[in-house]
Amino acid sequence: MALRTVLITGANSGVGYATATLLSSFPTYHVIMTGRSLPKLQAAKQVIEATGTVQSQLSILHLDVTDLSTITAAAKQVEEQHGHLDVLINNAATGIRIPDMQTRLTEAYKTNVIGPALVSEAFRPLLLKSANPYSLYISSGVGSINLAMKKSAYKMQYEDAYRSSKAALNMLATLEYTDFKEQGLKVFVVSPGFVVSNLRGTSEEERSGWGQAGDPMGSAELIRGVVEGEREEDVGRFVWKEGVYEW
Ligand SMILES: NC(=O)c1ccc[n+]([C@@H]2O[C@H](COP(=O)([O-])OP(=O)(O)OC[C@H]3O[C@@H](n4cnc5c(N)ncnc54)[C@H](OP(=O)(O)O)[C@@H]3O)[C@@H](O)[C@H]2O)c1
Repeated sequence: MALRTVLITGANSGVGYATATLLSSFPTYHVIMTGRSLPKLQAAKQVIEATGTVQSQLSILHLDVTDLSTITAAAKQVEEQHGHLDVLINNAATGIRIPDMQTRLTEAYKTNVIGPALVSEAFRPLLLKSANPYSLYISSGVGSINLAMKKSAYKMQYEDAYRSSKAALNMLATLEYTDFKEQGLKVFVVSPGFVVSNLRGTSEEERSGWGQAGDPMGSAELIRGVVEGEREEDVGRFVWKEGVYEW
């Protein structure tokens, strides 16, 4: 049986790492972990392998979503090695929240919007060669305009860049869905839930969301369900664990 090739951006930590760990525990995948730092990727792959759960093929590839030359090189390598791609998971992001607005917005948009757009453009021809292609955008409930309009909405200082970048990402995904659904591309926007992460900062308090954040393996389980066809009725929509968000 041919293995399903899955490429994950930002796979050395958090949700991307958990997804690589979970998918690689099935014999049906070739999981390509990508990231901007090869040493971090190598270390992450070694930790996954040390768990003894790996059943699939697992490889690493340098891909910095803010550097087009690395995106192009990674796409070329996947084309040469596999000829196609079955699942693209645009997961890498920055949660930058610094006072300087120009830098904050520029960095957030470079990583969270322009990066995924370029990654999708580079890999889409390979996805369209798959018999059952999936394009996932890992977004966030805080990128929902509908939720932002509610008075009770969650708020943090300097959150404008992250939240608006995720709303823009949702639009990119929607445009990809409308443009390519006839060619069989299944696009999903996925909100992984509030889980342990480096996005909020590197202290233990920030990583654990002041003790409130869940296990990224829960997000990985949601993503696995999407790519294994358990959420087909929600294709083109903004899915989370228990349903769909309004945009
Ligand atoms: N955790 C949550 O509660 C939560 C909630 C809602 C949505 N999300 C979304 O879930 C996704 C994953 O976040 P996470 O929580 O797993 O955060 P994380 O632990 O900080 O992981 C983010 C990953 O993105 C990578 N990355 C950052 N800039 C990159 C670049 N220029 N090129 C390639 N990779 C880059 C990071 O690599 P480095 O290690 O090199 O920085 C890291 O591997 C994001 O899209 C985030 O917005 C998370």
